[in-house]
Amino acid sequence: MKKRILIIGACGQIGTELTMYLRQEFGSHKVIASDIREGEEELMNSGPFEILDATNYEAIQEVVIRYEISEVYLMAAMLSATAEKFPMRGWNLNMDSLFHVLNLAKDKKVEKIFWPSSIAVFGPTTPKNNTPQHTIMEPSTVYGISKQTGERWCEYYNKRYGVDVRSIRYPGLISYKTLPGGGTTDYAVDIYHKALKHKQYVSFLNAETTLPMMFMDDAIRATVSIMEADKEDIKIRSSYNLAGMSFDPEEVTESIKKHIPEFKISYEPDFRQDIADSWPQSIDDSEARKDWGWESKVSLDEMTEIMLTNLKDKY
Ligand SMILES: NC(=O)c1ccc[n+]([C@@H]2O[C@H](COP(=O)([O-])OP(=O)(O)OC[C@H]3O[C@@H](n4cnc5c(N)ncnc54)[C@H](O)[C@@H]3O)[C@@H](O)[C@H]2O)c1
Repeated sequence: MKKRILIIGACGQIGTELTMYLRQEFGSHKVIASDIREGEEELMNSGPFEILDATNYEAIQEVVIRYEISEVYLMAAMLSATAEKFPMRGWNLNMDSLFHVLNLAKDKKVEKIFWPSSIAVFGPTTPKNNTPQHTIMEPSTVYGISKQTGERWCEYYNKRYGVDVRSIRYPGLISYKTLPGGGTTDYAVDIYHKALKHKQYVSFLNAETTLPMMFMDDAIRATVSIMEADKEDIKIRSSYNLAGMSFDPEEVTESIKKHIPEFKISYEPDFRQDIADSWPQSIDDSEARKDWGWESKVSLDEMTEIMLTNLKDKY
């Protein structure tokens, strides 16, 4: 089978950058972007695009057959903060879309799947620092429950049916190209926009809320490297821990102040504080490093410089 990639949920925060990266790497015509809505101009104009509902098995199968797809990256999901508002919709979208893609692979219609999990699989009873790959997992959000369940099913489909599914537990992702889609770590993107626009920011998480985070370039690199790794090297078929950096709102404020000294932050925690408090502060990603050579590159100060440099013309 020739390499032909389908990205489902391509217009979101990660999907947009992932699509552009894969098109650059493997050729535009080999990377089919799809979403339930249209996306940014750059994405729409740089290669094939299909309107596709991730909850519609027949529609996905039709696109897979028509384009002779060999690999699917499933990025459509309802994120943590939004899913707390619409629990059943979040559960249905997150689970149905995963089953559809797993079943296509089980029926040998595609060869390989990428499906992202999240640090939200961990819960209040999980060790918070340097959270191990294998540990207590009692997630307290709908989103976390859907991701943990998804991990179990991925491992099951791999062991029972030989499905080649690969997964990473993304931390909070930060990018300047696309806005985030309703997660608990969204503040860490918004803060850069507001720092440039208003020189002040009201944070919905309190000052000491340390969370695992990662710059988007690192996340895209991790995603493509786990997909390109030799099959035998992917030992964990639920999902790999992945770490970039950890910081709290105060630390990112200090980092921004090195460039915008007058920047001020204030705090008005909302319902997302409870979600954040249930998650780890830092992640042990030694298994990913050992099995497929993962290494993070971008630090907080480097990321701040990249974010402010690339966003400054917007404001
Ligand atoms: N962004 C993060 O910080 C982060 C962290 C951990 C895990 N993840 C996971 O990564 C994946 C992508 O996240 P993201 O941040 O890009 O999310 P996002 O909300 O920015 O994008 C999701 C995309 O899915 C699309 N979508 C929604 N319903 C759909 C449907 N029925 N059919 C087709 N498309 C549909 C949306 O239009 C959107 O473009 C998700 O599985 C998410 O849980 C993200």
